[in-house]
Amino acid sequence: MSKRILITGGAGFIGSNFVHHWCENHEGRVVVLDILGYAGNEANVSDLASQDRFRLVKGDICDAPLVAKLLEAEKIDTVVHFAAESHVDRSILGPAAFVQTNVVGTFTLLEAFRNRWNSEGQPSDYRFLHVSTDEVYGSLEADDPPFTETTPYAPNSPYSASKAGSDHLARAYFHTYGMPTLITNCSNNYGPYQFPEKLIPLMCLNILLGKSLPVYGDGQNVRDWLHVSDHCAAIDVVLHQANPGDVYNIGGNNQVKNLDIVHSLCDLMSELASDLPKSPRDLITFVTDRPGHDRRYAMDISNIQKELGWSPAYNFEKGLRQTVEWYLNNREWWQALLSEEYKGYYDNLYGNRP
Ligand code: NAD
Ligand code: DAU
Repeated sequence: MSKRILITGGAGFIGSNFVHHWCENHEGRVVVLDILGYAGNEANVSDLASQDRFRLVKGDICDAPLVAKLLEAEKIDTVVHFAAESHVDRSILGPAAFVQTNVVGTFTLLEAFRNRWNSEGQPSDYRFLHVSTDEVYGSLEADDPPFTETTPYAPNSPYSASKAGSDHLARAYFHTYGMPTLITNCSNNYGPYQFPEKLIPLMCLNILLGKSLPVYGDGQNVRDWLHVSDHCAAIDVVLHQANPGDVYNIGGNNQVKNLDIVHSLCDLMSELASDLPKSPRDLITFVTDRPGHDRRYAMDISNIQKELGWSPAYNFEKGLRQTVEWYLNNREWWQALLSEEYKGYYDNLYGNRP
């Protein structure tokens, strides 16, 4: 039987990619709950609005009565929980919203789902999949082995600490109540519809606008990059194949230094864009490092590969080229995001950063 799924944060970057992945591959009711804040964009799912099976609800995951009513009214049996404050730099500027949405919001959803699951007699096919991050494991030195599912948590930023808190709650609901939760911890995603506060879209836009390219510290920090489509496929596999209580690491087996990515973006833009105001590599500017900046992330994905048969399909070089092409071909999408809020955020973060 097809699932009746609630996707929180389904108007954001990964959430909206997942909504499209789900609608293309599965039948059944799809409800998105999203506060439509600065990173949540109705346009990301507007092509689905005409489908009877789809509903977008504007609302806060911390609003307990709203969440309870929605789960009941829509007879939800599956939650995929993306909604979060997701940007490390914003968590340094203002951590309170991260504790509220990521910890209190996740708790609110878990409680509402527990009530619904209980009221239906604890059906064995209900699932609550909590989407999390590799950042909960802390930072690696150059020679350390990648994070596994049993690496102790050591979050270093308010963002990762709030995600760690929410992971622990999801884990506790399985161990204490037997509620069928699943947790996925994923590495850095890239691809279409990513808000331009994150490294790759920010650099793409700044190249197109002729603005400086702010590289934090020495630019030698390493991230494990995964195309967002691969992440969506992995979540689908975990949802359908994993056992309640399972935790899976997801990543790209693809460790790249920040400066190498910025160089690649400069070269791709020089090749693909005909109207660049300035030579991209000349725009690179080394700026003061992010406080508490994690040096390196890398994921050991052998469990999900061996047990569930998922592996990343995208080649990074090809995926990065497609992503640059997407930002070039969808200028209206990102131009609409360059609001006063974005300019204020940008000046606040980068304005005083020599
Ligand atoms: P995003 O910021 O693009 O999207 C987050 C979405 O959540 C937005 O649509 C926003 O409006 C919504 N939201 C925020 N607060 C809300 C609230 N109180 N109520 C309802 N909706 C709310 O983030 P993303 O990059 O798509 O990340 C999605 C999830 O995946 C997050 O949980 C994040 O921690 C996790 N994750 C992200 C990455 C990555 O590289 N981007 C990697 C691993 C895990
Ligand atoms: O690892 C998974 C995480 O990846 C997710 O949980 C987060 O939601 C997501 O935001 C991302 O976190 P990062 O901090 O790694 O991503 P970000 O794009 O902000 O930065 C990537 C790297 O680039 C990081 O080392 C900081 C650096 N950077 C970033 C920006 C925005 C710069 O050098 N300059 C910049 O302007």
